[in-house]
Formats: sequence, structure tokens, C-alpha cells
Amino acid sequence: EKLMNNFVYNTPTRVVFGRGVEEECGRLVRESGGSRVLLHYGGGSVERSGLLGRIRASLDKEGLYRVELGGVVPNPRLSLVREGVALGRREGVDFVLAVGGGSVIDSAKAIGYGLADEGDVWDFYERKRKAKGCAPLGVVLTIAAAGSEMSPSCVITNEEGWIKRGYTSEYSRPRFAVMNPELTMTLPAYQTACGCVDILIHTMERYFHRTGGMEITDGIAEALLRTVMKNALILRDDPSSCDARAEIMWAGSLSHNGLTGCGTDGGDWASHKIEHELSGLFDVAHGAGLAAVWGSWARYVYREDAARFARFAQKVMGVSGAGTHEEMAEKGIEAMENFFRAIHMPTSLTELGVSPTEEEIRDMAVKCVRGVGGPVGVVRPLLEADIEKIYRMAR
Ligand code: NZQ
Ligand code: ZN
Repeated sequence: EKLMNNFVYNTPTRVVFGRGVEEECGRLVRESGGSRVLLHYGGGSVERSGLLGRIRASLDKEGLYRVELGGVVPNPRLSLVREGVALGRREGVDFVLAVGGGSVIDSAKAIGYGLADEGDVWDFYERKRKAKGCAPLGVVLTIAAAGSEMSPSCVITNEEGWIKRGYTSEYSRPRFAVMNPELTMTLPAYQTACGCVDILIHTMERYFHRTGGMEITDGIAEALLRTVMKNALILRDDPSSCDARAEIMWAGSLSHNGLTGCGTDGGDWASHKIEHELSGLFDVAHGAGLAAVWGSWARYVYREDAARFARFAQKVMGVSGAGTHEEMAEKGIEAMENFFRAIHMPTSLTELGVSPTEEEIRDMAVKCVRGVGGPVGVVRPLLEADIEKIYRMAR
């Protein structure tokens, strides 16, 4: 029998959720102790939608000093992080406000680490040093996907060698997250679907673990997965459903703030590591990359814990009827891939639009294991040769 693992559940982020809540931004910054704000954003969607103007007004209303740095791209780059650190130091910034999605929030977190440290931020991602702090951050979320608004993680791409690496520490959890689901209405359908996949897989990474576990955690995870699938289909047909957007947005935060990992060993995470190499090298959208590799990962590992995959098939994917654990597991994996197809997400690298050479596959597998510093995942710990096989299966 599996016994629960000890855990720490720490979610210090104040969530302010609903219509119009972005107006409260200035007050929230002030209450969080900020007075000199670095306003950080992406490639233009927040300018076009008028959101940035409302945020500026909200900061001005509180009399907060402000400098701005836009231009964060998906798979955010180290060079802009360094620019932000230099700007922040020059301007004596004491608070970073991210307006955007996972890429902007992660870039803001990395800048926050840089502002709290004398040395080079990349050291943390290379595991050379551990962060001793992070400048306080706030978030105005515009896409439900990465869960960075409540997570302790951030993922940055170093253009020198196209190395995409994550760094996790409790210091980087945002002080507040302003979440208005209406702000996600302007998303292209592709990005909405990518976000839904990411939310599902954050939950599945934790669901497929090796030790520990609790019935309450399983139940929360299973309900979360079913809710996201249901509402992703609603949004596919009616992108303007605010209720569906709210369900997905809150699920996105709960999928990655630690809730669905309480009592387990933390989960597998191999799909994520395998995907990060793809988006590092080929600059694809993270959620689409996950959809393209997840089925191959699942088929490669499920025999190590077929009972768990069978439970997933029944409780999450609604697979019914008799069969061995292996048979149920295969049906569950197939059902999840069918769901990805239903929301127009790729289930292979070809559909994702990338065709890595054998050399690139070897390179990604080596970087993947090196990045983790050992075998990848826990359901079936994967070495370079295993990861190469998964990339080939995913073709
Ligand atoms: O740059 P703009 O013009 O704003 O456009 C963005 C971007 O092109 C657009 N967008 C965002 N909100 C919009 C909008 N367009 C119209 N209307 C809106 N309301 O969407 C595109 C994608 O944005 P991005 O921030 O890249 O998306 P996402 O939230 O999926 O973040 C992806 C990044 O997060 C990392 C991923 O690896 C990837 O680099 N992750 C971060 C995690 C974390 N910090 O905990 C965990 C995740 O597993 C993930 O790895
Ligand atoms: Zn993810």
C-alpha cells in the first residue's frame, strides 16, 4: 500500500479574480510594498487590447514611479532578462509587475532574481548557485496556461546554444495575481488550446508519480482534468464564453500551485523536460509541444504502472468496459490523444511542424538528461537512449 509523503503546501500569492480586477493593480502594488515599478510585458497584445493603458492609469493613480520593458517573446530570452536587470538596477526598481502570460511572468521572475543578486542570473539555471532572494513580483494574467502566476518556477531560454532551463525557488512566487478571465478573450484559438493542454499536463505530471499519494489529491486532480477538457471543448465552439474562460483560468493556477501534488513524490515531469528541449531548439509553443510528445511518453512508460494509467482511463477519460490494466491504459492514452485532436492540437512532431534530424534528437536527449542531472521522470526513469526513442516514436 502507498503511504502519503510529507509535504509543504505554500501558496502565498494573493489571487484577485474576476471582471475588472485589473483596476486594482496599483493598490495591490502599493500594499505589497512597491514604489518603483518595472512594468514588464510581451510583444504587443496588451498594448492592442488597451489593457496596458489601464494598468498604467492604475499605477499612476497610486502615484507609483514606473519604468517599462516590453518585448518578451514566447520562450523568453536571457538577453532581455539581462536588459531588465540592468534597467532595474539603474532605476532602483523595488517591484516587478508582469502583464502577460507565462513568458512575461517567467522573464519577470528572472529579472527579480537578478535584482536581488550581484552575479549573473544564468548561474541559477545552470545550478551553479542557489538564489538567496527575488525582487517582489505581481502579475496581471492574460492567458491561462503556464500557471506561473502561482508557481515557484520560471523557464528561460539562453540564445547561446538555445538552452531552455527552469529554475525553481519559493522566493519567486508572485505576491499577487490579478486574474480577469475576460482578458483572455482576445487570444487566438491556437493559444487558448495550447494553454488547456499545458494545464492538463501540469496535472498529469503530478498524477503519474511513483511514491505516496492521497485520495483527496487524486480526486482534485481528476476533477480538474475533466473540467478543463469539458471547458476547452466549450471554448473551441464558443470562444466568447466567459464562464468557460473562468473555469480554465482558475484551473490553470490550481494545476501548478502545488495543490495536485500534495502527498506524492512530486510527480514525473518527463513530458515537460522532453518538450522544453523542443521549444528551446525549435521555438514552438510549449502547450503544442507537450501535446505532440505526451502520447509517445505515455506509451513508452505505462507498463511500469499500468494500474495507475487504467485508473486515469476510467476516472478521467471515461473509458468503460472490462479489460486488463494494460488494455485500459492504452485506451486512456488514445482517448487523451483524441481529445488533443478535437481541440486541434498536434499529436506528433510532424503535426507540430518540426522534423528533427537524428543528430538533433541525440543532442536534445543529451541536453535533457544533463539539464535534470540524471534520469528523467519517475514512472520509468529515462536515460538518453530512452528519450531518443520517445522523440522517434513522436515523429
Ligand atoms: O507577446 P504577446 O503579444 O502578448 O502575445 C502572446 C504570445 O504570443 C499571446 N497572448 C498572451 N495573452 C494574450 C495573447 N494574445 C492575445 N490576447 C491575450 N490576452 O500569447 C502568446 C503566448 O504567450 P506566452 O506567455 O508565451 O504563453 P504561456 O503562458 O503558455 O507561457 C509559455 C511559457 O511558459 C513556460 C513555457 O515553457 C513557455 O516558455 N512555462 C512556465 C512554467 C512556470 N513558470 O511555472 C511552467 C510551464 O510548464 C511552462 O514550462
Ligand atoms: Zn507546462
